[in-house]
Amino acid sequence: MKTTIFLFHPDMQQSRINQALIDHPGVDVRDEYALYPHGDIDVSAEQAVLKNTDRVVWQFPLYWYSCPSLLKKWEDQVLAYGWAYGPHGDALHGKELQLAVTVGGQEADYQPGRRQSHTIDEYLSPLMQTGKYTGMKVLKPFVIFDTFNISDADLAKAAAKYRQVLKN
Ligand SMILES: Cc1cc2nc3c(=O)[nH]c(=O)nc-3n(C[C@H](O)[C@H](O)[C@H](O)COP(=O)(O)O)c2cc1C
Repeated sequence: MKTTIFLFHPDMQQSRINQALIDHPGVDVRDEYALYPHGDIDVSAEQAVLKNTDRVVWQFPLYWYSCPSLLKKWEDQVLAYGWAYGPHGDALHGKELQLAVTVGGQEADYQPGRRQSHTIDEYLSPLMQTGKYTGMKVLKPFVIFDTFNISDADLAKAAAKYRQVLKN
């Protein structure tokens, strides 16, 4: 099974967590902000990579309860009518979608009645539904919480778990 990580982090130079999550033998990592520093996405190139991938990973830091803006633009342009949905829009059918998300807040706060009000799955639901709508099998999101406080040892453990998730 071929897995490709589509990484959306606007500032990988300053990243600690996502930087620790990109070392995957046998998995291609596409740093989308590095590929498209001006935001001019090469739609055909992205579609060709998607076609050739069995498992699509969208990896990003949570920004204002959502994804960094280039991922939204990428969805709007790459998941085109007649390609990803609509008539003959079956290019992604049968593929798997894995979200991998890093989150500053604490897991216990991402609950109804707590500081963040909603679960992380609720915040991620538009992305997961996009996967479902385009015919992909949506896997359980891989989430790392509390990124401001996580120790180096726990980060290394989380990175190992992520490698395992991508291997399965
Ligand atoms: C613009 C911006 C918005 C953010 N919004 C949220 C948020 O809504 N919820 C949250 O828990 N953390 C939020 N964070 C924290 C990031 O998710 C966190 O710093 C990141 O996942 C750490 O990964 P990195 O070291 O790879 O940058 C935000 C950070 C930035 C810079």
